[in-house]
Amino acid sequence: MSGDHNLCLTAEGTIVGRYGGFANKVRAHQAWAIPLPDGLDPATAGPLFCGGITVFNPIVQFDVQPTDRVGVIGIGGLGHMALEFLQAWGCEVTAFSTNPDKEAAARDMGANHFVNSKDPQALEAVANSLDLILATVNADLDWGAYINALRPKGRLHFVGVVPHAIQAQAFALIAGQKSVSGSPLGSPTTVAKMLDFAARHSIAPITETFEFNQVNEAIAHLESGKARYRIVLKH
Ligand SMILES: NC(=O)c1ccc[n+]([C@@H]2O[C@H](COP(=O)([O-])OP(=O)(O)OC[C@H]3O[C@@H](n4cnc5c(N)ncnc54)[C@H](OP(=O)(O)O)[C@@H]3O)[C@@H](O)[C@H]2O)c1
Repeated sequence: MSGDHNLCLTAEGTIVGRYGGFANKVRAHQAWAIPLPDGLDPATAGPLFCGGITVFNPIVQFDVQPTDRVGVIGIGGLGHMALEFLQAWGCEVTAFSTNPDKEAAARDMGANHFVNSKDPQALEAVANSLDLILATVNADLDWGAYINALRPKGRLHFVGVVPHAIQAQAFALIAGQKSVSGSPLGSPTTVAKMLDFAARHSIAPITETFEFNQVNEAIAHLESGKARYRIVLKH
C-alpha cells in the first residue's frame, strides 16, 4: 500500500457518506480499530467508544488518584459511565443530578453521595470538598457553585458541550489555584486501556435495546430524556 493511499484512508471520514451508526459494516483504518477484550459484551460495548472514552480520558490525563474525591454533573449517557469508572478506580464519587429519581441507580453505579443539583443549599453543603468535577451536561449551570465545591487546586472539567460561555469569577480560581478545562474523546491507546479496565472490572454501559425497525421510537425516547442510559439498535 503506497504512502499516499495510506494518507487518503486516514483522512477519509469513517462513516461520512454512508449510513453512519445505522450501517451493517464499517470500514476503518487499522490504527483506529481496537479489539474488544474477552469479557466485554459486543451488544452493550458500543457506547464505551464515545461516552465511555470521553469520561475515562480525563481520569488518565489528570492522573486521578484512588484517594481523590470526584464529582460528576449529569447522570446520563456519559455521566453514568463516569460513575462506574470512578468507583472502580477507587475514588470517592459524588453524583450531581437534577433528577432525584436517579439516586438509587446512581448509587448502584458507584456514587457514594448524591446531590440534588437544583438545590442551592445542597450545593453549598459540598463546598471545598472535591478534587475534580466532570461536567457531562449539555446545559448552562451556575458554574460558580461548582467551582466553590472544589478543594484548593481542584479542577472543573468540561466534557459536556454547554451552549453558552462559561462564567467564572477570576478571584475564585486565583485564590484556590483552581482550573477550568475541557477535553474530547481519547487516543486509540487510551481506548485500549479503557477497554482493558472495563473488562477487568466488569464495567458495561447500561443500555436499552430497540429493534432496528423501531428506530423512530428509539430516537423519540432518547429525545424525551427517558433513555436509561444509552440506546442500542439491534439489526
Ligand atoms: N467531549 C466530547 O468529546 C463529547 C463526547 C460525547 C458527548 N459529548 C457531549 O456530552 C454531553 C452529554 O451527552 P450525553 O449523551 O451524556 O447526554 P444525556 O444522556 O442527555 O445526559 C445529559 C445529562 O445532563 C443532565 N441535564 C440535561 N439537561 C439538563 C439541564 N437543563 N440542567 C441540568 N442538567 C441537565 C441530565 O442529567 P440529570 O438527569 O442527572 O440531571 C442528563 O441526563 C453532550 O453535550 C454531548 O454533546 C461530548
